[in-house]
Amino acid sequence: MNQEKFKRRDFIGLVSKTSILGLAISPLATLADSTVPESKDSLPAEGHTFLTQPYLQHPGTDGMTIMWITARDAYSWVEYQEKGGTTKKAHAVTDGMVDANDRLHKVSLQELKPGTIYTYKVYAKEILSYEPYKITYGETIESSTYEFTTLALNPAEVSLLIMNDIHDRPQSIPQLMALNGNDPYDFVFFNGDIFDYQTDENQIIKNMINPCTTAFASTKPFMYVRGNHETRGKFARQLPAYFHNLDGGQYFSFTRGPVHFIALDTGEDKEDNHPVYAGLIDFDTYRKKQAIWLETQLKSKAYKKAKFKVVIMHIPHYHSGDGHGTLHCREVFGPLFNKYKIDLMICGHTHTYKVHPPEEGHQFPIIIGGGPKDGKRTLIKLKANERKLHLSMLADNGQEVGNYELSR
Ligand SMILES: [Fe+2]
Repeated sequence: MNQEKFKRRDFIGLVSKTSILGLAISPLATLADSTVPESKDSLPAEGHTFLTQPYLQHPGTDGMTIMWITARDAYSWVEYQEKGGTTKKAHAVTDGMVDANDRLHKVSLQELKPGTIYTYKVYAKEILSYEPYKITYGETIESSTYEFTTLALNPAEVSLLIMNDIHDRPQSIPQLMALNGNDPYDFVFFNGDIFDYQTDENQIIKNMINPCTTAFASTKPFMYVRGNHETRGKFARQLPAYFHNLDGGQYFSFTRGPVHFIALDTGEDKEDNHPVYAGLIDFDTYRKKQAIWLETQLKSKAYKKAKFKVVIMHIPHYHSGDGHGTLHCREVFGPLFNKYKIDLMICGHTHTYKVHPPEEGHQFPIIIGGGPKDGKRTLIKLKANERKLHLSMLADNGQEVGNYELSR
């Protein structure tokens, strides 16, 4: 048997056998096996199987969103329980109809308790045929059991890991995550250019979701803002459906502990009328619209109240050349960042890691994570409590190549 196929079949067996013991897989345990499962290309043509393990999105104090993908159309649900509690079932309902007859599944658990550990399993019942007056089900498959913890109410601390510019190198995700060792963290943030350009679903599974679930994503959530490369390719318009950010959008804000985060979508790096886009993008209007939204966020109580104010976006508006994207971000976002005194900005894009201290133009440091080649990749660790924010940037050999600290 082909070795790659063998690995893939092993993985399917792991997640689909109902006899597997319901043991939670810790991030540490999953890190031990950094084998990235093969894509559905190597699957047998027939078969109702999971193409991904469940991955966590949109963490809340009272909710968590779970997504997964199956090879066949199915009706899907989640069974979950507070440790030691009774098992509950949840499925998604849209406009009165239960979500079904699809391969991409998303269930948002609601009314959870803050700061509480839950165990969960996902299920998928194949839909063999969907006639107007007769629906025929097939086999039901179920995942292993995993666990997650909901966000605490008003936590004193926050801790996250940031990756950027992976550029279709799936092995980088578990490798960079391994740099964190056993250090506790709340969630992971992807800051754009995880892909070179969007081709199809298979690429999303193989190069992002499966390496994420291998390393952490069935037990810890991740958030994601696009880089310029995610706006390219024939599948770019389908990409957002595979993720579920806060507010359901491509740009969003959230407070975690002492930090208010604002995540912006900086769009493409060239002019909208550049021939390679063939008239099919309008990022200038989009960035201007975001700037209006950004000012409402910068004026908000949550922003003013926060001890630390952090912006995460892919293209830095300084130190990334003089392309149109950089300059337009500088024009529409730059004055707002200075006026409302953000503390820190975290970016990618240039592929050259560096901590740029405050200077004329930006009155706050800009930290740029590197990538995507070996020796240039970074994992950024950000931790904050009421008194101190600490950022550490690790190169892929584990050495710290940048840091920044702010005290209150
Ligand atoms: Fe990039």
